Amino acid sequence: MKRTVIIDALKSTAFGEKICVKGWVRSRRGNKNVSFIALNDGSTIKNIQIVVDLQKFNEDELKPITTGSCICCEGTLVESMGQGQASEIQADSLHVYGTADPEKYPLQKKGLSMEYLRTIAHLRPRTNTFGAVLRIRHNMAMAIHSYFHQHGYFYFHTPLITASDCEGAGQMFQVTTKNLYNLKKDDEGKIDYSDDFFGKQASLTVSGQLEGELGATALGKIYTFGPTFRAENSNTPRHLAEFWMIEPEVAFMDLEELMELEEDFIKYCVRWALDNCQDDLQFLNQFVDKGLIARLESVVNTEFVHLPYTKGIEILQEAIKNGKKFEFPCEWGDDLSSEHERFLVEEYFKKPVIMTNYPKAIKAFYMKIDEAESGYAGKSGQTVQGTDVLFPQIGEIIGGSVREESYDKLLGEIEARQIPMKDMEWYLDTRRFGSCPHAGFGLGFERLMLFVTGMQNIRDVIPFPRTPNNCEF
Ligand code: 4AD
Ligand code: MG
Repeated sequence: MKRTVIIDALKSTAFGEKICVKGWVRSRRGNKNVSFIALNDGSTIKNIQIVVDLQKFNEDELKPITTGSCICCEGTLVESMGQGQASEIQADSLHVYGTADPEKYPLQKKGLSMEYLRTIAHLRPRTNTFGAVLRIRHNMAMAIHSYFHQHGYFYFHTPLITASDCEGAGQMFQVTTKNLYNLKKDDEGKIDYSDDFFGKQASLTVSGQLEGELGATALGKIYTFGPTFRAENSNTPRHLAEFWMIEPEVAFMDLEELMELEEDFIKYCVRWALDNCQDDLQFLNQFVDKGLIARLESVVNTEFVHLPYTKGIEILQEAIKNGKKFEFPCEWGDDLSSEHERFLVEEYFKKPVIMTNYPKAIKAFYMKIDEAESGYAGKSGQTVQGTDVLFPQIGEIIGGSVREESYDKLLGEIEARQIPMKDMEWYLDTRRFGSCPHAGFGLGFERLMLFVTGMQNIRDVIPFPRTPNNCEF
């Protein structure tokens, strides 16, 4: 008999008809007359109830059907008398595909801690919480492709192995086939890469932006969506060594339009979750974060604040004057730490903030340098048209900017920062030939996932997290 997925079985009203479901047993309880099996196949957070009449089945048949075992059930779909479900199945036959020894199966108990589940990340997708998170993760990926496709962007594939350090922060993982026990070095003690696989030093990408700019200056509007790697030793609930990033890059886009895109795009994704993931969101709202759905709805319905950095610093200093205590200083020129960002977003404005026009020195080399003093916005020559989107609970969710389109200014920055650009002539060609104003941003997919699921730790919104000292599976 053909299998019906449980999400469809639960919606079906074909009462009286035969049905076949397959899945993993969440629980079995009952008395001496009847046994109830809660079965889940991952298609939905909801289980279907299988009612087993013990006059039709003997003890030995039911014994292996314990939490975690995998079974096939054929029976009759009937209207459920129980609350919270429309249909259930009266079992005719039960077949066990795989047992799960109750003495050994780790997902026996409810309410296991996130820390413990991280140690069994290979099994945790079978829990309700991770099932919900992973279905939402899929939905967010669909939302992203759908948004850009609808808006005329082309999905552009940038390389994962690269020879350029986009952010210039030196946090790259090296890729080599060299024998690390026997490294050939030159007279100065430097490693000779000429006989390495690529004939030069290569790394995993920290961002697809620079290659994305090549796409945007040819196709007009592109986006990337792929894994990125950062060897930053940040053991925080917001950092991964391997994370996914979405990077749109758009020719002829200015700062105002960039901020509009950032806001519209995030709202689209959050709305998608509200429209398509209600069951999973309700579960997470009940068991993980009671304010989740309200927070998602509020973000969709609010206008983000546009806040030049200089104005942000003034607000922070005013707060300090009024008795607010921060651990780190925040003078003009300082990089804001997460306590500052959280104060602005969660206490002062109480909504998402797009911060702009940062001091040049704390941002990447490719950002467009402000040319004019315009009130609170840029200071001529000292600030750049960079934007960070700051979110409640998360902090920075997006980093983006208008790109410096002037060849001379860009080269000036590269030289001033002593960025080794000998392998980057290709990038400078975008400014040499038909240079155009353009802008783009990078959204951390797992940061978006944190926001949309209410999960507290970024290790719990990706199936197999990679962090310092952790590379399981
Ligand atoms: O702010 P970042 O470093 O910006 C860039 O890489 C630009 N090249 C993007 C662009 O303009 N195309 O990173 C972008 C976003 C951050 O805002 C954050 O959400 C996420 O990537 N991110 C991380 N997420 C998880 N773990 C990490 N270690 C992350 N580092 C950055
Ligand atoms: Mg950033």
